[in-house]
Amino acid sequence: MNIILSGFMGSGKTTVAKTLAKISGRTVIDIDDYIENKSGMTVAEIFEKYGENHFRTLEQQAVEDVSKMDNLVVATGGGTVLNHDNAKALKTNGVIVFLDVSVDTILRRLKNDTTRPLLQKPNKECAITELLMGRMPIYSATADLVIDHNDDDQFKTAQVILERIKNL
Ligand code: S3P
Repeated sequence: MNIILSGFMGSGKTTVAKTLAKISGRTVIDIDDYIENKSGMTVAEIFEKYGENHFRTLEQQAVEDVSKMDNLVVATGGGTVLNHDNAKALKTNGVIVFLDVSVDTILRRLKNDTTRPLLQKPNKECAITELLMGRMPIYSATADLVIDHNDDDQFKTAQVILERIKNL
């Protein structure tokens, strides 16, 4: 069974995934890294050169590949599970864990970030709030588990995830 981490940019999916993979004996795959390795371009370059729609096509292909593998911890991108087909494919052999964080936490973690094209806006707080409000219902609806990860302690969060997964 795979453990899939979903949630907004800056929710800590990549960091928690690494720790969770270690303590659960799984292999970690980060969807953004997978796309970057396969395309030979960074996410920001793909957005800039080919646009978001093309990135979403590559993302869907990555999800198809990854959903065929087993014993993984998958760090999704913040937009991955918004596509119904992606969520469905990931659920065939995985549980989706939504890392729930506040706008303040996202802002604190990403205030100097330049790698996320969707947040390169004059008012980052507004951009985050608007996007998060629209996405929240889908993050919640696709999740098998919702875990608070505002406190930056990836070890504690990884342990809580493993504990709560047992009761699913
Ligand atoms: C995106 C999140 C990013 C990356 C791309 C789009 C999104 O991943 O996939 O910039 O739509 O939320 P992270 O959540 O890992 O930052």
